[in-house]
Amino acid sequence: MSRRAAEGDTTPIRPSLDGLVPYEPGKPVEEVQRELGLERVVKLASNEGPFGPFPAALEALERASLEYNRYPDGGAYRLRHALAELHGVHFEEVTVCAGADAVIGYTALSCLDPGDEVVTGWPSFPSYVLDPLKVAAVPVRVPLRDDRFDLDELLDAITERTKLAFIAAPNNPTGTTSTRAELDAWFERVPPHVLTVLDQAYLEYIDDPDYPDAIEEYFKAGRQVLVLRTFSKIYGLAALRVGYGIGPPELVTAIGKVRRAFDVTSAGQEAALASLDDAAEITRRRETNREAMALLQSTLREHGFDPVGPAVANFLFVRVGDADALNRELLHRGVIVRPMGPFGAPDALRITVGTPEEIAFLADALAALAPAQA
Ligand SMILES: Cc1ncc(COP(=O)(O)O)c(C=O)c1O
Repeated sequence: MSRRAAEGDTTPIRPSLDGLVPYEPGKPVEEVQRELGLERVVKLASNEGPFGPFPAALEALERASLEYNRYPDGGAYRLRHALAELHGVHFEEVTVCAGADAVIGYTALSCLDPGDEVVTGWPSFPSYVLDPLKVAAVPVRVPLRDDRFDLDELLDAITERTKLAFIAAPNNPTGTTSTRAELDAWFERVPPHVLTVLDQAYLEYIDDPDYPDAIEEYFKAGRQVLVLRTFSKIYGLAALRVGYGIGPPELVTAIGKVRRAFDVTSAGQEAALASLDDAAEITRRRETNREAMALLQSTLREHGFDPVGPAVANFLFVRVGDADALNRELLHRGVIVRPMGPFGAPDALRITVGTPEEIAFLADALAALAPAQA
């Protein structure tokens, strides 16, 4: 008997939510510390990176705190303006939301009716699947090929009902990216009734001539694309929840209709604005990240693991066999990593880069594993 029948059809909950398993964030440090009675816990689980906010953002936050009794600017006017200027696009083409994740959710809410389809690679960022499911749309998951988005197969999966294609470049959780040549070919072939959501949450970590700035190369060239960016990663503002999309003005307008009125906090807006002028700090963090990624890679290899590559963001994806068991072992030694079951890869862990000291802590934990696991 279905749940609705069992409850005499009295439940107000939409049946399309029945099979939906909510996104499960990485465990907080304090919880693991408390549960396991550990003195030191290192979190390498949520792709935030080890840096705090930029110095100018910290100052802006202090100033902004005096006005926390006021609602924020619901239109995020100054930040939208600054982002439009930064990217050389129109104000009407910029949407600022509570994280790139909220842009994904509002795009689904704006575009998808029940039964409409979206295509995406898999494993990939769960919101590409969960947000369409929430509105009874149909996510079509195309398996990665060699741990990379298979854009040819994605094209083949498009039907008349497909409205959105989510492409993560680089992909979370594998860290691999599609190249300019692959994306050029995609935009040549994708039919006009499909809007591509090109997620560049990790763009600032990448310094590779084969990696395109999708705002410059696709949006400005008139492609049907919404490009996603975030302040959660290299800018160190994950807790404040600010991300944005640059895309067609009619979608930006539609997102303005479905969003909550005050969902981007004034703290987030001010900190993001204050972060925009420090290109040198971005370069410094990119270099630091590159070195730490190399260290994390060699640490994992020394312990018999073979992380997927080339990984160009700030995390590594590694197949370990019994990922839940290894995750538990690491947790008991104070290292929080991310088991990949919810991302569609139950045999894998995703490990976010940390400081050299945090990576050394992981190395100690790996060295202490039972021989069967090492
Ligand atoms: C590919 C990708 N897109 C979007 C997001 C969400 O970022 P935000 O913190 O801006 O919501 C993440 C975060 O992990 C991500 O990996």
